[in-house]
Amino acid sequence: MTNFPNNFLWGASTSSAQVEGGFDCDGRGLSIWDTKKLNPGTCSFHYASDFYHHYKEDIAMMAEMGFKAYRMSISWSRIMPTGEGDINLEGIRFYKNVFKECKKYGIEPIVTIFHFDLPLALQENYGGWSNRKLIDLYVEYCRVLFENYKDDIKYWLTFNEQNALIYFGALDMIGGGVSTRSMNEIYNDGHRQIVAQAKAIKLCHEISPNAKIGPAPNITTSYPASCNPKDQIAAYNMDDLRNNWYLDPLVFGEYPKSVDRYFELNDVKLDIHEGDMEVMKECKPDFIAFNCYGNDTTEHLDYYKLDLNELKNADNRNMSYLAKLMEKPGVGKVIHNEYMTKAEIDGHYYDPSCIRVTARRLTDRYHLPLIVTENGYGRDDILESDGTIHDQYRIEHLRETIKEIKLGIEEGAMLFGYCPWSAIDLVSTREGITKRYGFIYVDRDEDDEKAKISEMKRYRKDSFHWYKKVIETNGEYLE
Ligand code: BG6
Repeated sequence: MTNFPNNFLWGASTSSAQVEGGFDCDGRGLSIWDTKKLNPGTCSFHYASDFYHHYKEDIAMMAEMGFKAYRMSISWSRIMPTGEGDINLEGIRFYKNVFKECKKYGIEPIVTIFHFDLPLALQENYGGWSNRKLIDLYVEYCRVLFENYKDDIKYWLTFNEQNALIYFGALDMIGGGVSTRSMNEIYNDGHRQIVAQAKAIKLCHEISPNAKIGPAPNITTSYPASCNPKDQIAAYNMDDLRNNWYLDPLVFGEYPKSVDRYFELNDVKLDIHEGDMEVMKECKPDFIAFNCYGNDTTEHLDYYKLDLNELKNADNRNMSYLAKLMEKPGVGKVIHNEYMTKAEIDGHYYDPSCIRVTARRLTDRYHLPLIVTENGYGRDDILESDGTIHDQYRIEHLRETIKEIKLGIEEGAMLFGYCPWSAIDLVSTREGITKRYGFIYVDRDEDDEKAKISEMKRYRKDSFHWYKKVIETNGEYLE
């Protein structure tokens, strides 16, 4: 049986807005996540896990686990407070120090340039990604990063989960709540973001020829609901709409054809400018990073016109609302899959083979090196009075997934690293700090006023000790 490659990048992930806090420290500007519409009872992103003041302690704990890599993101508004123009030297220095701290322990930082947290001024002044000006502003921000960190960073990620921003349409991942923008507007944002990434990839290769750069979408392979050929076509269509639309243009320089029909039905017309497709053809990502929490199952769905107004007043945590968003007329419909694995410990349903399947599919289609930049299990953890946290459910989830990843590598999947979500507890996109993912527990609750003055003490969860052994044995220990 094949083992994990010797230089396999074991680590874990976070994002600036969700972990950093220090939202008003040392010249940082506001991001749209600082004013985001929050779900009732959930904390803001202002203090998060206060990585800003705890980074040395946090990175030391990652080193104790044996991390080879730490996938993190840079806050655009810490580097450029209004998203353009003046550079905040304190911000540049902060990330220099973080990288230095990682290097001290031999941890390779894998850096996401943009993880949802757009500078607020760019949203207010230009309407965010609805404005083509954002392409140049993003590329300029990238230039600042590439020039300042060219001696520090080997792996850059252009965008976190661009497809989550676009594909879910009415689920406003960025601003919070439910968006009422049309499909035409949303998919045109998507096109502009792809052009911006293509330009950033080219620029990175010019400024920092030794660095590697790639996109980091959320890739969730579609299983056909049955052996009915119509379901197989639906699964292909869904992969094109949900996954390939975001990778094909960057790797092959063209969009997948099957999506045209969906666009026609939803009155989407891409505003393609001269040079857009050329830059996609010219850029060459060095690898693909992907986030994968589970695969979807797709059933054939006839054409009909989806009325987004139906969803206007929905609570974005409501499952029937999410299910409605997963209906893609003329493409397919995501349905429940009865073959999912039921966890022994807490009975949650999951798909341990999701990464194995997806990494094999991506290897076949793109033949590029792959790294998993998110995967994991979010739950409320209990801090016992003796400072322990018994998250056996998380261990079970990760263990079964890693076993499958190992098989995937044996079958030829070109994986070079695994960085689950998350290194340390952080604030969930929609569910506060109560939904925890970390190996390291952060002692705070949803109360921002308390968090502001809290020490936010760190504790090692059971999964911390377990993952340390997995890394120590390069994936041999999977008990
Ligand atoms: C991914 C995002 O979609 O999933 C992360 O890249 C996010 O930012 C993670 O936190 C888990 O989702 P959630 O909604 O539980 O925070």
